Amino acid sequence: MKPIKVGLLGLGTVGTGVVRIIEGHQQDLVSQTGAEIEIAKVLVQDKSKARNIALTAQKLTDSPEDVISNPDIDIVVEVMGGVEPAKQYILEALDRGKHVVTANKDLMALHGREILSRAAEKGCDVFYEASVAGGIPIIRTLVEGFSSDRITKIMGIINGTTNYILSKMSQEGAAYADVLKEAQQLGYAESDPTSDVEGFDAARKMTILGTLGFHANVALSDVKVRGISQVSKADIAYGKQLGYEVKLLGIAERNDEAISISVQPTMVKKSHPLASVNGVYNAVYVYGEAVGETMFYGPGAGEMPTATSIVADLVAVVRNLTLGINGQRGIAPYREKKLKTDDQ
Ligand code: NDP
Ligand code: HSE
Repeated sequence: MKPIKVGLLGLGTVGTGVVRIIEGHQQDLVSQTGAEIEIAKVLVQDKSKARNIALTAQKLTDSPEDVISNPDIDIVVEVMGGVEPAKQYILEALDRGKHVVTANKDLMALHGREILSRAAEKGCDVFYEASVAGGIPIIRTLVEGFSSDRITKIMGIINGTTNYILSKMSQEGAAYADVLKEAQQLGYAESDPTSDVEGFDAARKMTILGTLGFHANVALSDVKVRGISQVSKADIAYGKQLGYEVKLLGIAERNDEAISISVQPTMVKKSHPLASVNGVYNAVYVYGEAVGETMFYGPGAGEMPTATSIVADLVAVVRNLTLGINGQRGIAPYREKKLKTDDQ
């Protein structure tokens, strides 16, 4: 099989990890897919910026057309973030028959339905495993692993930045602003960390999990959100005295009539497994009527864990290419049915 050419939109924290894994694991990737995966072009804002990775200068471009209109490119990996122009680039790439892998929860929570419909129309794959919980393959788990069950509750620590902040405040008595700065330096935070600390990033992820887990058309506006910016060291110390840890928890529940989804700082009993999820680690608890309680744990942000999920999506696209089934065996598109939220 000829090499599969990939165009990257973005070469920041996550994009750099994607290049490292493709280069470092090439032999393993070839043995699984039968094809070499080659980074053909990389879109950045500033070509003159110093990079942590060696790429030949002609691969870097500041013109999106070099990626999305490039006839040699089979798959576009969007790791630039934000809603626009990422949405426009993805739709244009799909219109040109390119498959898409994205880590963009902002986009998938708001416009996932439109993007997946366009992909289905064009016979293209769109995969977005990295958009929720970094290195934990929770999207595939919900869609494939639990396809036989009826999930009624999803609960989790799904923002690495805030968990890193709360853990350091609790364990070391560190100051909120100092730890936030550290999380930014480590590449965990969004370009505007307001999304992390005010709970919006977790709300976007809960929208995606609720949609896939409950087979419902959950909207971001259905999620009640409160972040951690008002949580003080005193709150955390008081919780500890009573035997609790403060965690930013996303909670989604459904019954036959309604679904409810929220994100808020929550006192978690120290004996509960979620209380010992610390640092940049995430954990997602899923309750299914048949399976009962399950929990998935792993790094929720950062260069290499996030890139692991993206390259796994690339492998899935390449496998579909070898079988000629792109656009048919992807992550299930959103269903038309909308469950009532408890506000209705
Ligand atoms: P960074 O800010 O580190 O990187 C963004 C990259 O995109 C940079 O290379 C930047 O170019 C490029 N870029 C941004 N806007 C444009 C534009 N308009 N035109 C061209 N290039 C552009 O982001 P991350 O790597 O941290 O995140 C990328 C995506 O992955 C986001 O959607 C994020 O939410 C998601 N994500 C991030 C995780 C993490 O741990 N960081 C984990 C899971 C998902 P330049 O380098 O020239 O500035
Ligand atoms: N800013 C996000 C977080 C990145 O801290 O969880 C991973 O989605």
